[in-house]
Amino acid sequence: MDELIYSGKAKQMWTTTDNDVIRVVYMDQATALNGKKKDQIAGKGQLNNQISSLIFKFLKENGIATHFIRKVSATEELVKKVKIIPLEVVTRNIAAGHFSSRFGIEEGLVFKAPVEETYFKSDELDDPFINESQISALEIASVTDLQTMWQISRKVNKLLTALFKEIDLQLVDFKLEFGKTNQNEIILADEFSPDNCRLWDLKSKKHMDKDVYRRDLGDLTSVYEEVLTRLEKKLGGT
Ligand code: C5P
Repeated sequence: MDELIYSGKAKQMWTTTDNDVIRVVYMDQATALNGKKKDQIAGKGQLNNQISSLIFKFLKENGIATHFIRKVSATEELVKKVKIIPLEVVTRNIAAGHFSSRFGIEEGLVFKAPVEETYFKSDELDDPFINESQISALEIASVTDLQTMWQISRKVNKLLTALFKEIDLQLVDFKLEFGKTNQNEIILADEFSPDNCRLWDLKSKKHMDKDVYRRDLGDLTSVYEEVLTRLEKKLGGT
């Protein structure tokens, strides 16, 4: 029998008969403000799974080492078992969200070079900002490991900025998480969906991501469906 290993805000992780493989179940739950805002949204789990599977497959085909093995049902995928490094690795191409609120900058400023930030993954502490020397002092990741994560993040940014541009979406910012395999290799983990990135429609500048939910801008599922439809047109189905 499969055992539940972890139940998070939007996903569950289950064991499988293979010790190195985990089954991820995407749930119909949306959260914001670190879980303080929470709602059931029918169909969301399926949309996140489909979008993330398509993107991870695309990244894998373009040379990025990821945990993704394959999608196994509408709401489930199989991934390689990794030890998650407790960092949120954020890249920003355009000012938005906390960058704008923190520095009093209007949303929409296009940066000359991507802004890179790291946050310590901790619900109790509200995911505080953490710099390189703090990461070293707390032995969260070595300098080399951190460099590897940034190398991968920069490649992901290039690949996905170009991919989204082809479907008339601007990749404003995104958050990645990484894990270490039993062989000590750092690979991309977690998910890539409009839950953890900001996408603006190239022409209308309409929000096509979780800000629709965070800011009560309208119906989240129809926006995610639109992102999926555009991706499927470009990449085919999973
Ligand atoms: O909130 P903030 O502007 O710092 O978010 C930057 C990017 O990181 C956004 O795309 C957001 O969706 C993502 N993020 C995330 N999980 C968090 C914090 C931010 O996916 N806990």
